[in-house]
Amino acid sequence: MTQHDNIDIIDRLRSKKRLRVLFVCLGNICRSPAADGIMNDIAARHGDSNRWVIDSAGTYGGHAGDMPDRRMRIHARRRGYELTHRSRQITELDFGRFDLIVAMDSSNERNLKSMAPTMEDERKVIPMSRFFSIATRYDYVPDPYYEGADGFELVLDLLEDACENLYQRLTAGNGE
Ligand code: 4NP
Repeated sequence: MTQHDNIDIIDRLRSKKRLRVLFVCLGNICRSPAADGIMNDIAARHGDSNRWVIDSAGTYGGHAGDMPDRRMRIHARRRGYELTHRSRQITELDFGRFDLIVAMDSSNERNLKSMAPTMEDERKVIPMSRFFSIATRYDYVPDPYYEGADGFELVLDLLEDACENLYQRLTAGNGE
């Protein structure tokens, strides 16, 4: 698969009435629920929430039912995001429910691609780093779970940048 396949996917989604995006990390308690909350906030600020279906899930189900990690909730709240998502493990059904499945790191991306039921579903999987525009040495969203406060702040910086760019890419040409 080439990078081009994903670019085509973004172009095709732009004309859709509904934009269904699923953010995926490992535990669905740090990175992906934060991306979910940030993306919801961006759509709401544009008065565009009705067009979006935004959710998150983890490749690992060990935290299923849990609220986001307390540290992530605190850091997110300081920036105005109230994270209320309950962790859940991704299932094959999610590939039918969503148009774009955004992976936080390369391990998530690999796991998602290997569980995609069809080739078309596999093409829905795209790394979050594709939308980074700020100067960073990362080409993935680093797992903050075993890090301190800096790790959570870094993740939020990267996610705010990437979500804004993803929003712009998907809505370009729609009167934005
Ligand atoms: P997340 O972070 O994938 O960003 O939600 C993690 C959460 C839990 C674990 C690892 C990463 N864990 O090993 O339990």
